[in-house]
Amino acid sequence: MAKKDDEGPIGPTGRPYHGFPTPPKLDSHGPARIIALCNQKGGVGKTTSTINLAAALAGYGRKVLAVDFDPQGALSAGLGIPTHEIPTVYDLLLDLKRDPHEAIVHSAVENLDVIPANIDLSAAEVHLVNEVARESILARVLRKVTPDYDVILIDCQPSLGLLTVNALTASHGVVIPLECEFFALRGVALLIETIDKVRDRLNPSIKLDGVLATMYDPRTLHSREVLERVVEAFGDDVLETVIGRTVKFPDASVSGQPITDYAPEHAAAQAYLRLARELVARGAVA
Ligand SMILES: Nc1ncnc2c1ncn2[C@@H]1O[C@H](COP(=O)(O)OP(=O)(O)OP(=O)(O)O)[C@@H](O)[C@H]1O
Ligand SMILES: [Mg+2]
Repeated sequence: MAKKDDEGPIGPTGRPYHGFPTPPKLDSHGPARIIALCNQKGGVGKTTSTINLAAALAGYGRKVLAVDFDPQGALSAGLGIPTHEIPTVYDLLLDLKRDPHEAIVHSAVENLDVIPANIDLSAAEVHLVNEVARESILARVLRKVTPDYDVILIDCQPSLGLLTVNALTASHGVVIPLECEFFALRGVALLIETIDKVRDRLNPSIKLDGVLATMYDPRTLHSREVLERVVEAFGDDVLETVIGRTVKFPDASVSGQPITDYAPEHAAAQAYLRLARELVARGAVA
């Protein structure tokens, strides 16, 4: 972190560094604000961010539901939840009469529940194409559980297809994780266009909650330059919290735990706790 004379420390996005206060305890819970973590580019940190932000918010006493909305089931696996021979989000999408509570699994993290997914979900787009209001099926599923939670996070798959449009239609906000790598901004225009279309036609109140820079390596000029470009493009929509690159994340996933449990003292765990505080400070989460 660089220091400017008299101004205190400057964070990696070029703004003054804020620690953000510990979120106040909530006296009552719900209804949830729904946030989709979305980027059609693969491997940018959507799932890692969903898991660890969810765990961090749960640690601050928020009731959190994480929805695995990727047929790869990486979110479920990353939280150590088996995905076979149990109801998944796919079953809820296909039968709106089903009570979504049936598919909710309590994770090992207090206050953190999950609706899992598995490869079945890859067939959902085909099944939903002929449905009435096919873009708002997930919204209708989640409506029944919204009163029980403070925040619902949706881990999107890397595509802009019907499932992702369902996630955006169901959401109040979007967080876009961007890897601090050369082609980070490629395709983001198309993503923003998709969000704009969803706002126009399906979900007028959806907002961009923030752009989250991930896998940032302050030692490389490259990483710093990419972050600079991201800030040029998105200004204050870039979250001040930046997630550093570290092998602790793959390690934590293998052990089926969020980083806040796997290595609570590590800078990476602290980064997701700070992200949780920043989103509360920005009003994106109660
Ligand atoms: N900050 C980080 N530092 C190092 N590795 C990371 C970091 N964040 C994520 N990873 C690793 O990078 C890979 C991709 O991350 P992740 O699965 O979260 O991305 P994704 O956007 O969900 O991918 P997909 O598009 O395939 O769903 C994983 O192996 C993960 O462990
Ligand atoms: Mg993923």
